Amino acid sequence: MKRDDFDTWSLGELDAVEAALDAWVPAAAPAGLGDAMRYAVLDGGKRLRPLLVLAAAEAVHGVREAALRAACAVELIHAYSLVHDDLPCMDNDVLRRGKPTVHVRYGVAQAMLAGDAMQALAFEVLTPGDTVAPALQARLCALLARAAGGAGMAGGQAIDLASVGLPLDEQGLSDMHRRKTGALLQASVLMGAACGVTTPGEWQALSAYGEAIGLAFQVVDDILDVTQASSILGKTAGKDLDNNKPTYVSVLGLEPALRRAHELRDAARAALQASGLGDVQSLLVLADRVVDREH
Ligand code: IPE
Ligand code: IPE
Ligand code: MG
Ligand code: MG
Ligand code: MG
Repeated sequence: MKRDDFDTWSLGELDAVEAALDAWVPAAAPAGLGDAMRYAVLDGGKRLRPLLVLAAAEAVHGVREAALRAACAVELIHAYSLVHDDLPCMDNDVLRRGKPTVHVRYGVAQAMLAGDAMQALAFEVLTPGDTVAPALQARLCALLARAAGGAGMAGGQAIDLASVGLPLDEQGLSDMHRRKTGALLQASVLMGAACGVTTPGEWQALSAYGEAIGLAFQVVDDILDVTQASSILGKTAGKDLDNNKPTYVSVLGLEPALRRAHELRDAARAALQASGLGDVQSLLVLADRVVDREH
């Protein structure tokens, strides 16, 4: 697949994800909660996780409805994690996706509740009655729950907050990053893969790809925090230093961090190429996007 083909494919998929999220995130939740949820998840973000789900599903010729639901569910969990990450008790940020953060716009309590409701909604989206095989519904729920919970994203965020001001070594950093960010990205790939049929070797290869780009993604996030302007990031630049967070840049330095990101991208590519899967072009381009992005 050439870049132009990827762009055409991804624009079509982004439209499908946007329309599905618009339909599934309820404006009707009471007392303004629906407005806060829609503000948090619609109309913003790169939608990298949904694209990973859909690209992996494409690679294994997965069931379309399940893949689209998985794509939206992962994005709901991710968007909820951003709402909570920005709260005054966590990173205390006022800008997200180019807009005031949810707690700035709707208040801290409503932001907490919007996050809670988005998390629940993710699992509701994954369990649509009989239009997706029950065993697949259960599988997708298990993959997402594990990645979002105490061993994954939430656990990583706990480490992040407990590490303020501490000189983590690279191993500690990589453990934190794999949990807080990598787990959900890896789960995106595996949820897409679960929508089709894979051999154990193909599953392993996709898992290794997801693990490598998952860590690379947060390494690059750490880099962009120091190299990019807030206006391009759509969130406050320089926040990690302000908040005294150990990052790949503060621990390793900028150049070594960039090298690490490139090594991880190479590992991701190698895993795909060894997988024996045919339709991995979108996944290959997405690995580049993770590392070469500007925001
Ligand atoms: C930002 O994620 C938070 C991290 C996990 C590093 P993204 O950079 O994917 O944010 P959006 O979804 O594009 O806003
Ligand atoms: C966030 O990491 C990881 C999440 C689980 C949301 P960061 O705190 O570095 O993300 P940004 O930079 O605020 O997007
Ligand atoms: Mg954070
Ligand atoms: Mg943050
Ligand atoms: Mg960051």
